[in-house]
Amino acid sequence: MEKPFHLLPQNDSPTDDRTPLMRGRSHSMSLVDVILGRRSIRRFEQKEIPKDILDRILEAGRQAPSAANRQPWHFIVLTDDRIKGRLSKWLFTKHIKNSSVTIVGCANTGLLDRRWSTIGTSIALQNMVIAAWAMGVGSCWIGGFKENEVKKLLGISDKWKVVALVSFGYPSEKSHAKRRKPIEKIVGYNKF
Ligand SMILES: Cc1cc2nc3c(=O)[nH]c(=O)nc-3n(C[C@H](O)[C@H](O)[C@H](O)COP(=O)(O)O)c2cc1C
Repeated sequence: MEKPFHLLPQNDSPTDDRTPLMRGRSHSMSLVDVILGRRSIRRFEQKEIPKDILDRILEAGRQAPSAANRQPWHFIVLTDDRIKGRLSKWLFTKHIKNSSVTIVGCANTGLLDRRWSTIGTSIALQNMVIAAWAMGVGSCWIGGFKENEVKKLLGISDKWKVVALVSFGYPSEKSHAKRRKPIEKIVGYNKF
């Protein structure tokens, strides 16, 4: 069983080699509760995410694993209402506009990185989603964007692929749990 966060090494423990950003505010929900309770949030309060919370969300991304620790990612944090508005034109991207921030996850497509960079960038984004939820911040992934438009608007060079955008903010809706396929339909032991 996972230890709740409050039972993890404390800040003054000699075994705690976390940086101050990695420590941040303490939270007592179990990590599994956080993962199982997360829902996509598309309606946000008009309230900014405090800097220390946002920094911690980004730190959760920075600490993500990546192939050979190449860290083949770059994140653009959109705070500007005009830019967010420009990206909110489509049905699937409407929630960008009211988000406190929307993070654009870019993967390096250079020769050494392209094989795994989309996976690494996705893991980092999902780390951010989970960390945010643990701190009361909702989010929603956005795959329904036009890559060329996003690249042009944000000055992203050819070397980078826009993997996804994720909107973050304090929830102003109660999102219900979506149906999932039964476990026996998606898990096989020792064969497909
Ligand atoms: C890669 C990816 C792309 C997604 N794209 C969109 C999107 O463009 N617009 C949107 O409203 N939700 C999008 N979602 C959110 C999904 O619709 C949502 O995760 C799914 O319905 C399950 O709901 P839940 O996250 O509340 O469990 C996306 C999710 C993922 C992982």
